[in-house]
Amino acid sequence: MNAGESRGHTLRESSVHTGEPAGLTEPKDSGQVSARHASVIPQDVDIIVTIDGPAGTGKSTVAQALAERLGLDLLDTGAMYRAAAAIAIDRGLMDDIESDDPNTRDPAVARFVEVVNEADVHFDWPTDPPAIMAWSKALGKFEPINDRIRTPDVTRAVSIIAGIVPLRHHMVRKQRIIAYQHPRLVTEGRDQGSVVFPDALVKFFLDADLKVRAERRADQLRAAGYSAEADELTEQLAKRDHADRNRDEGPLICPDDAITVDTSDLTFEQVVDRLGQDVLDRVGVA
Ligand code: DC
Repeated sequence: MNAGESRGHTLRESSVHTGEPAGLTEPKDSGQVSARHASVIPQDVDIIVTIDGPAGTGKSTVAQALAERLGLDLLDTGAMYRAAAAIAIDRGLMDDIESDDPNTRDPAVARFVEVVNEADVHFDWPTDPPAIMAWSKALGKFEPINDRIRTPDVTRAVSIIAGIVPLRHHMVRKQRIIAYQHPRLVTEGRDQGSVVFPDALVKFFLDADLKVRAERRADQLRAAGYSAEADELTEQLAKRDHADRNRDEGPLICPDDAITVDTSDLTFEQVVDRLGQDVLDRVGVA
């Protein structure tokens, strides 16, 4: 059990969004709560809401806003795989992990999973949204790695890392422990409804056209100060989709009992409204 996984995320009121396409902008907390947004899940109700889908569908920002609106905690499982990828790169393990020679690759993968375990990747729940932390050997303490995990080298490496079966088992275990400690949770990723929380009360699968997703990613990268070409990103996203959908363990699939939402032509506000209403209907909150 990690030091950072104690309860501590407070009940927050909703943020209000106006007309931006899903995924284009980070949620902003305006401090206003419209009557339509005032419903939260009663404190005595435990509930897991899963949101899965490919990159660029607006999953992360939608999940964050939905959690705020409903007064639930938020788990970004992509951040956990990104943290593992950052560790692989920063410890110089990528070449051996990617080796075609099993005599090099297999011990490197085993060592890598050990190193990730030792780094004790976890979330600092009192921060909003929770910061992702990992042990830094150099600093001799846990450090936040939010910025590191969003860099292009990590984004390139993460599909390979996310395909490593023992790493996925490690992450799935961690995610279930987190849900045990935070039983009122919106969790987003690729396998949350299918593998990690098959009994979740509400499951969503967000999708969108590849081109729309690439344009959103380009805008996000430019906003973060990186140069980005939509054509190049379309190709990268298609490759990541292929890797995510075709790996043996925890592939990206739409669970049979998931509610599918195509966000291509919806605004951010419309997506959050739709998901929020579906959850409230399922819980029976007016
Ligand atoms: O959602 P994201 O772009 O931050 O995810 C980063 C990578 O991690 C992406 O290639 C898919 C992978 N991932 C996964 O395999 N399983 C999850 N539950 C979450 C993310």
